[in-house]
Formats: sequence, C-alpha cells, structure tokens
Amino acid sequence: MMKKIQIALDGPAGAGKSTIAKQLAARLDYVYIDTGAMYRAVTLAALEQSLDLNNGETLGELMKSLDIRLTPGENGQRVFIGDREVTDAIRSIEITNNVSFVARQKEVRAALVTAQRKLAERGGIVMDGRDIGTVVLPDAELKVFLTATVEERAARRHRENIARGMDSDITILQEEIALRDKRDSEREVSPLRQADDALYLDTTEMTIDEVVVRLMELAEGVLK
Ligand code: DC
Repeated sequence: MMKKIQIALDGPAGAGKSTIAKQLAARLDYVYIDTGAMYRAVTLAALEQSLDLNNGETLGELMKSLDIRLTPGENGQRVFIGDREVTDAIRSIEITNNVSFVARQKEVRAALVTAQRKLAERGGIVMDGRDIGTVVLPDAELKVFLTATVEERAARRHRENIARGMDSDITILQEEIALRDKRDSEREVSPLRQADDALYLDTTEMTIDEVVVRLMELAEGVLK
C-alpha cells in the first residue's frame, strides 16, 4: 500500500489554503482538516456564552466541555459542536473579526493542537492553518507556506462574496485582512510563521489549478 503522508499548509488569511487543501486532499484521497474552523467554533461558543475573549483561563475552562467534531462533507469539511452543525455559522463576519482574540490564548491552542495531532496521527491528511508546519506537525513530510499580496487576497475574497450574492467592499476587506495578518503574526503563542523546512509559494500570479498541480508534483515527489 502507498505510504500515507502528512501535508501541512500554512499561510495568511485568504491565500487560498482551504480551496487548495480541499482539492489536493480529494486528488490524493486524503482527509482535509481545516484547523481555522476549530478556532472559529471555539469563538462561536465563547460569544454565545458571553465569555471574555481575552481571558485565557475562562476559555481554557470552556475547552474542557467543548466537543468540536469535524466530518468530511460533499463541499468540504462539516463542523459540529456536539450534535449541532455550525459549518455556516462559524463563517459570519462577527466570528471572523473576533477569532484572532481567541486564537491567541495559549489554553485554547494547547487543547486544539492536541486534538489536531490526534486527527493527523495516521497520516493521509492535508491540514491547513497557521502553525501546522511549525507546531502541530513538525515532522510532516510536506510543508508548504502559501501566500499572496494583501491586494490579491482581498480581491479573491471580494469575488467570492459577490458570487455568493453578499455585499462586499474591497477596501474594507483589505483593511480586515491586513489587521488579521498583523494580529496572527504578532501574537506571542505560535505566531503565523513559515517553518524553516516549508516551501514558500507566492500564489499572487497563479490560478488555483496551477497551485494544485504544483503541490501534487511535490506530494508525488515525497511519495516516490
Ligand atoms: O483560516 P481561518 O481564517 O478560518 O482562520 C481563523 C483564525 O484562526 C485566524 O485568525 C487565525 C487562527 N488560526 C490559528 O491561529 N491557527 C491555526 N492553525 C488556524 C487558524
């Protein structure tokens, strides 16, 4: 049987990680795990319970009772808190704008990193996030750091919003993305950073297909 490896995809918001990770996982018949969705689910639960998002201890307590489940769905990963599906609810603007406060708490990260390692332990996964290559899976056989300029990332998000029939303002998107990059890169615990052994890929001038083909070549190189 062919070896099943771990693939770590990291990079800033809107670099296309989830679209690319999903397609790569489908081609390899691997499981796709979107770790950002886990931080989003914690944020949703914390907001619903009116918890202080800046209090690590309180959020650490929440983590003890929070049952986050990920299951593969037709359009990618589905997310549940217990039996309740939150796949769409975690994509709201309120969650998007609050998730970096939650993601900087070490108690939250410790609990989620443990869960993520468990999900990846048998290999055959493509995991996307910010600290996968550096912290969660330091031994992943393939690590890629995907990025693109802020302008390009905002333009991509803008097109997605329009396609979904949502209101969208590209200037606001650029500001939000730049702010989230700053918070994710400057936090003390596991900041967004390229692993030393990760391949850096700037996708500004690339299509999704081109990126997927490139990553397939890299994966096949490791699997040979
Ligand atoms: O990829 P995303 O936009 O869904 O991520 C949501 C937030 O979670 C983002 O602000 C960064 C944070 N995050 C993180 O700190 N570590 C991860 N492994 C994944 C996401």
